[in-house]
Amino acid sequence: MFTIFVNATTHNLPPTFDPTRSLASFLRSDLGLTGTKIGCHEGGCGACTVLFTSPNDPKPVPINSCLKLLSSCNNCHILTTEGLGSTQTTLSDIQRAIADGNGSQCGFCTPGWVMACAGFLLSELPKTPANMEQFFDGNLCRCTGYRPIIQSFMKLLNGEKENCTGSCDTCTACDHNEGTHDCDAGGDAVFCQGGGESGGCCQDLEDLIVKKDTTKPSSLLRISDGLTEFFQPPDLTSALTLIGKYDKSDIGINAGHTGKGGVEKYYNETAPYYRGVDAKVIVDVGNITELQAVTSSNGVVTAGSGVTLAKLVKFFSSSDYAPFQAASRHLSVIANSQVRSAGTWAGNLSMAQKYPHFPSDIFLTLSALSATLTFATYDGQVVANVPVQTFCKDAFFKEHCALILSFSVEQKPGDGWVARRFKLTQRARNAHAHVSLFVVANVSSEGCIQDATVAVGGVTSAIEVCPKTSRAMLGAVATLDDNVIETFTQELESLGLNQEDDLTRKDYRLLAARNCLKKFYLYLNAKEGGDESLSRDVGGKGVQEYSISLDALPVTAPVPKIGARLQASGEAKYCHDNASTVDPRFSLHGAFVFSDEVGKRIEGISYKSAYPLGLVDYVDARDLKNGKRIVGDEVLFLSIGDIVPSVGYPVALVLFKKEEDANKVAAAVEITYSDVAETEVSHPVFSLADAIKYRRIFTPKDVNAKISKGDADSALAKAPMRLKGCTETGGQKHFYFETQSAVCKLGEGGEVEVRSSTQNVSGTQEIIGKLLGIGSSKVVVKQLRAGGGYGGKLTRSFQCSGAAALAAAKTGRTCAVVQDRGIDLQMIGGREPMIIEYDIGFDADGKILAVKFLIHAESGVTIDGSAGSLGMATLWMDHVYNVDNFSCEGILYKTNVSTNTSCRSPGNMQSNFVYEDLIYRIANRVGKRVKDVQELNFYRTGDVLPCERDGTSLGDLKQVNLQRCWRELHEKAKIEEKQKDIEAFNRTHDTKKRGLSCAPVKYGISGAGYKQQVRVCIYADSTVRVGTSGAEIGQGLATKVVQCVALRLGVDMEKIDVHESDTSNNTVNNGATGGSATSEVCCQAALNACDTLLARLKEHGDYEVGGDVSFADAVAATDGAGVSLSADGWNNPTSSSEFQYFVWVATAAVVELDVLTGEASVISADIQYDCGEQLNAYIDVGQIEGGFIMGLGYFLTEKVVFDHTGALKSVGTWEYKPPGMLDIPREFNVRLLSNVGNNAEGNVLRSKAVGEPPMVSSMSVWFAVREAVLAAGGSMDLMCPATIDERLLAINKANMNL
Ligand SMILES: Cc1cc2nc3c(=O)[nH]c(=O)nc-3n(C[C@H](O)[C@H](O)[C@H](O)COP(=O)(O)OP(=O)(O)OC[C@H]3O[C@@H](n4cnc5c(N)ncnc54)[C@H](O)[C@@H]3O)c2cc1C
Ligand code: FES
Ligand code: FES
Repeated sequence: MFTIFVNATTHNLPPTFDPTRSLASFLRSDLGLTGTKIGCHEGGCGACTVLFTSPNDPKPVPINSCLKLLSSCNNCHILTTEGLGSTQTTLSDIQRAIADGNGSQCGFCTPGWVMACAGFLLSELPKTPANMEQFFDGNLCRCTGYRPIIQSFMKLLNGEKENCTGSCDTCTACDHNEGTHDCDAGGDAVFCQGGGESGGCCQDLEDLIVKKDTTKPSSLLRISDGLTEFFQPPDLTSALTLIGKYDKSDIGINAGHTGKGGVEKYYNETAPYYRGVDAKVIVDVGNITELQAVTSSNGVVTAGSGVTLAKLVKFFSSSDYAPFQAASRHLSVIANSQVRSAGTWAGNLSMAQKYPHFPSDIFLTLSALSATLTFATYDGQVVANVPVQTFCKDAFFKEHCALILSFSVEQKPGDGWVARRFKLTQRARNAHAHVSLFVVANVSSEGCIQDATVAVGGVTSAIEVCPKTSRAMLGAVATLDDNVIETFTQELESLGLNQEDDLTRKDYRLLAARNCLKKFYLYLNAKEGGDESLSRDVGGKGVQEYSISLDALPVTAPVPKIGARLQASGEAKYCHDNASTVDPRFSLHGAFVFSDEVGKRIEGISYKSAYPLGLVDYVDARDLKNGKRIVGDEVLFLSIGDIVPSVGYPVALVLFKKEEDANKVAAAVEITYSDVAETEVSHPVFSLADAIKYRRIFTPKDVNAKISKGDADSALAKAPMRLKGCTETGGQKHFYFETQSAVCKLGEGGEVEVRSSTQNVSGTQEIIGKLLGIGSSKVVVKQLRAGGGYGGKLTRSFQCSGAAALAAAKTGRTCAVVQDRGIDLQMIGGREPMIIEYDIGFDADGKILAVKFLIHAESGVTIDGSAGSLGMATLWMDHVYNVDNFSCEGILYKTNVSTNTSCRSPGNMQSNFVYEDLIYRIANRVGKRVKDVQELNFYRTGDVLPCERDGTSLGDLKQVNLQRCWRELHEKAKIEEKQKDIEAFNRTHDTKKRGLSCAPVKYGISGAGYKQQVRVCIYADSTVRVGTSGAEIGQGLATKVVQCVALRLGVDMEKIDVHESDTSNNTVNNGATGGSATSEVCCQAALNACDTLLARLKEHGDYEVGGDVSFADAVAATDGAGVSLSADGWNNPTSSSEFQYFVWVATAAVVELDVLTGEASVISADIQYDCGEQLNAYIDVGQIEGGFIMGLGYFLTEKVVFDHTGALKSVGTWEYKPPGMLDIPREFNVRLLSNVGNNAEGNVLRSKAVGEPPMVSSMSVWFAVREAVLAAGGSMDLMCPATIDERLLAINKANMNL
């Protein structure tokens, strides 16, 4: 029998389950514990974090349950967020902290954070803010911008136990002794739950986990589902006997399963469908005591192969031998806390042995330490003392190693050992190395290098040691002569430089490695620049300033988000959760099969090989008997005979019974293709530059992108100075945490009910009505909340929901589709890359006299939202600058990659950035401060905007708050002072440079097109329920609506509940949720509904808010009179001009850059934001912070890369890097303008929108980076995104002839 303890409940399972099943799948689908979320399925996001205690180690550690095999959890204890607390009983302080501290928006990541925090608080690490921040390297959040999360959790360190009532008599930690409750002695006050309840205050978290027997199983465990055999031997002898029994090609070793589940797919042949090929016979080594020890004897450290990375970090850190300390530092930045807790060094090294390109930090470290390996062969022989380089590279060892047993490293005798290691990555943490270097040297007291080992990764095709370089280094430390660097370069070249440009440019890698070696010498010479990585202050600092209006309460107040506590405790349900918990008796799961050969004709689709793996049925183009299209001309599935337009275009949806079978069933479907004669016109293009070259223009009717003012051509001709050129901007993935998902259930008479993770509820209904040919009235679409959207679920959600509906209609069963992260990234495009040509004329003061822009935008295979994005790029192109002669036009191009679509601040993100760049170029040209040129050209109240193509003006500017934002930013953020400090810093530092930039933003808002509806129902007991047509995607729409209802009806928010969006109830023919406007539009709709109800309450109950009659009495009277207390509010905003009003923002960012490596750290960001009278101070500040950090990702860390076949390379969390907690500004201040309001026609309670404008303002970070690049003597021509490689190349552009 297999036993697992989850939240202190015992589960005994017959050993016949699928041994390759993940722990997360068991928790979610079998136990219904859907608080454990799946954001990536590869260890890259932390959403699935649980606490894990194994019989080998009683200390609970956070792990990724998406990677952990259930089969390897025999006799283990799991704690999920549900086990920590619940809103129905008691919440833990951790859950309460993040919820009440505004640390959740869409909430999909929140339980993962809760469990990571629990893991930290239970760890042996000193409970310092710095340690806490570092510990959170395995959790991402796309919404919040992290500041509120870390600030909330840091309060726990400060002992702020908000809920502690002091009623527990034995708790010394709380300093409260008066109560009556006898709580568990020795309880951990960090988890104080207050209230004196049993198990509450002073509850010891470990007690929640270790309640049952944790003895290590002593017999062989065998689990088999008939397809895969899983064995967990209790000792080494039985493991080797087992291995000897089977054919070696069938055997697979399992340790932490982090590499197998999270990494191997990037290096083996099966990408992108399958998360690693599982062997037929899995031998799990997690229970073998002989492999778990790390010991030191006679100066030799020996670590068993079962030792986790975390344990190795700890072990090496306690040594006083410098190379071991360096090893500890290097290992501590491998992966993330969760992976280091579960993953072993041997699993890592084994991957390095199998896949030379895998950038193994273990291989690097062991190479630098000259480690030797001991392993067992398939016939049970033990081979010892094999040097690690030989072990990984020699074919003999690759072939014969069955099981790695241990490594040994020698602490070399004598004093004078030094070691430095460097790891250059796409983002600060949780990223594999682009380039790595580990140098161990012995330096005599006279300052001579007597011995050296240099190991380097990322420059050649594998990790290498460099003996020639080591020899060249022997000699005086003070001499970093060119000879050493030259030898190093030649040695690397002779090993064969990696010549591919992919996530990093090839020129970068050699340069960076050389510079790291220089840094080693700087260290030896105690000079600046000898640091191993850019140091960062602890983050989480900053102010959030806002004023509230007492007359409007609860509107304007910092009201925590409705549902935040449910999100933290895992009770909040998402479409993903509905999909994982469908009744298996009546349901099927679905996964997309997509095209992978662009430009070829589909000849056939064979499902045959998928049946043995669980295929039950499928839908493809042959099932599209009614409608075929989902958006414009875009068909749901390609048909046989079609020429494939892009990798990632859906061809079929395969249906099977178990959710976890998705990838293997989809991968088994075979699509056959035939070649198509390629012509100049038809050959596929995968980049915007090629699309421009080959004139792949979408027909002009699809794009109405043109604005103008005055006569740009003649003014340009007369301008005293001119700049002409073009700027390229990159793409961006939405990276919503909940991937696209839908569940479709059949109702009576052909009706279907669809749950979808969408931003477009009515749109979903309409599409499904057409696809099934049943009309909208037979389609009910429901959406309670989505785990993020950012534009990616406006129309792209139709693929999932449409296919699920088609499958349900065909099979008669409920059908659930959840996109795998990699497939989601491949199938769904993102922000449109743009190339913007400019011609700008100005005078000697920097006054812009005329400007012309031509925007080229890349749409992908279909137009979808890209016409809108290009329209916005064009309409917003004037940015904040008033120019009398202006023209801008846009062209949309087709490329053979997945359809791009709206992405938070679509188009204007790109266009404003390009215009702002021109201001810097003008300032440079005329020799003025950037600030002076900015201010000289700013719009002012009364200025007139350009006109659209048809001559209609975009309006005049009635209330320009830009100058005020700008002034207050400069005052409050002390910009002048900071600038002086930076100049002083730059004068005194050679290898670090700082830059500051202030960026202005004008963001036009219009609710037009976003018609929304809200139903308000007052029940006879005077409780209220509200349903909105707007989709809750984390932006706090529901909370704002409830605040408005509370204000208008004069009732407490606690009395108001929210109903999901539901097309059979409150969502009829509504607009999508987007454009930053929907919250406000819904709030107004809610106010309209309330006004209707107030009129009835007045008439029948004499009710007035603040009057003498209570709400309850008025409700009773009105209901008693037989009058309806339900009303719909409708809001279809119209505007006489394109924009109803403008949001104004001024932002400043300060950045530090390492001149030798390109690493960057954002020291501070200050945002001065015009939010009118904000609707909710918490939510609005949260949106500003979150938008800014998503923008920071766009500008610094997120790179969308395709290979030469048109397949996405940045196809998962391994390659695509949204910012993590350590990438955010160390000090992050957000200030809302006070006493400002919004007087525009149609304003909603004088508020202004927040979703998108702050994203644009994050360009200040990019410009601050460039200021630092310039301070380092670099080039203006920095790419966007300015990833680490681009930064270093820009610094060195002049020297490298780039
Ligand atoms: C999100 C994420 C980020 C990461 N970042 C980094 C990084 O920055 N740098 C880096 O170097 N690595 C990184 N890794 C890789 C990580 O270090 C490995 O996944 C981990 O060390 C593998 O150990 P495991 O016990 O989980 O191995 P498993 O996944 O169990 O096994 C991995 C492979 O090794 C084999 N294997 C395991 N143990 C043995 C053994 N004793 N003998 C023979 N073969 C064995 C398995 O058969 C399998 O093929 C990352 C991984 C993840 C998931
Ligand atoms: S779902 Fe497990 S780490 Fe992302
Ligand atoms: S709240 Fe973190 S991803 Fe949405």
